[in-house]
Amino acid sequence: MQLGMVGLGRMGGNMVRRLLRAGCACVGFSRSRRGVEVLERDGMITVASLADLVARLAPPRAVWLMVPAAAVEDTLGQLLPLLAPGDVVVDGGNSHYHDDIRRARQAGARGVYYLDVGVSGGVWGLERGYCLMIGGEAEPVRRLDPIFAELAPGADAAPPTPGRRGGSTADLGYLHCGPAGAGHFVKMVHNGIEYGLMAAYAEGFNLLHHAGAGRAARAADAETAPLRHPEHYQYALDLAEVAEVWRRGSVIASWLLDLTAAALARSPELEGLAGRVSDSGEGRWTVATAVDASVPAPVLATALFARFASRGEDDFANRLLSALRREFGGHEEREADAPRS
Ligand SMILES: NC(=O)c1ccc[n+]([C@@H]2O[C@H](COP(=O)([O-])OP(=O)(O)OC[C@H]3O[C@@H](n4cnc5c(N)ncnc54)[C@H](OP(=O)(O)O)[C@@H]3O)[C@@H](O)[C@H]2O)c1
Repeated sequence: MQLGMVGLGRMGGNMVRRLLRAGCACVGFSRSRRGVEVLERDGMITVASLADLVARLAPPRAVWLMVPAAAVEDTLGQLLPLLAPGDVVVDGGNSHYHDDIRRARQAGARGVYYLDVGVSGGVWGLERGYCLMIGGEAEPVRRLDPIFAELAPGADAAPPTPGRRGGSTADLGYLHCGPAGAGHFVKMVHNGIEYGLMAAYAEGFNLLHHAGAGRAARAADAETAPLRHPEHYQYALDLAEVAEVWRRGSVIASWLLDLTAAALARSPELEGLAGRVSDSGEGRWTVATAVDASVPAPVLATALFARFASRGEDDFANRLLSALRREFGGHEEREADAPRS
């Protein structure tokens, strides 16, 4: 088993480490050489260029790209002319599946196989394994099966599903989902769901965070909605404890809840975070796909828009709301609501 890895960041670096542990020979390329020494100590061979990478691999080669989606086009453009018919190139980043359909054709014209592999597991994948969603032709998927099997979590990651006959690689944590683009299509929706789940935990815990709203003094003026029953909101809840108890036997237990509990245990007020939540593409592609296919996805869309709002993209809308209240009712903004500096 031999693999060339392009991109040795949080994901590519750990995936190489996991493969090395399993006895897979890995050749790695990273522009900056950041973190490369540690991987070399673990047994990875480092090369200085894509041409060197291709030269160090025995044909038919397998080259895995683990770079940002925006860097794939360029990297693939440089790599494809170096590869030979029968070689396989894998895009394991979070690329748009439309690009996969085009790139698979482009690679196929040179006799090179192209697989799109959605990878889930984040920085924990090194120990827990990576869930892999694979798109492309069957022949290269078969050929790379030992690599997928080593990267994936394996059968022990979850108890068998009652009533399921099983027998597919899904039971091991990787799945050939369909032809070109299918892997990233499934990963895109996976990440859309992730946005929705995370938003649900965030909103729920925020509500718990405000369970003591009745204890704060409240202005009695036309700009403040009265709290009819302050006595109903007198709780000072320990959110870390709530997260912990929910992890045991509750219906909303999940790995995301485990991570919530870990974050709250470290810092109950989540100090050091401003709450500006990034989105790297899959959430908006999921929503765009839902619109294209006329599929209602209100939770996923709301979760995506909440991320935009977290980054201040709703500031103008909010100022317009204030302006309208002032126009029709003479309502001035409360001091605490004054523009952010
Ligand atoms: N982090 C996660 O939880 C996660 C989970 C699933 C999938 N992904 C996806 O996996 C991919 C890699 O993510 P990551 O978290 O490992 O990112 P990362 O830690 O930022 O590492 C990115 C790697 O790509 C290389 N790179 C960046 N720009 C490049 C360019 N223009 N040309 C060539 N190489 C370039 C970097 O090389 P240098 O160090 O030399 O700059 C680095 O080795 C992304 O598509 C990401 O969306 C990430």
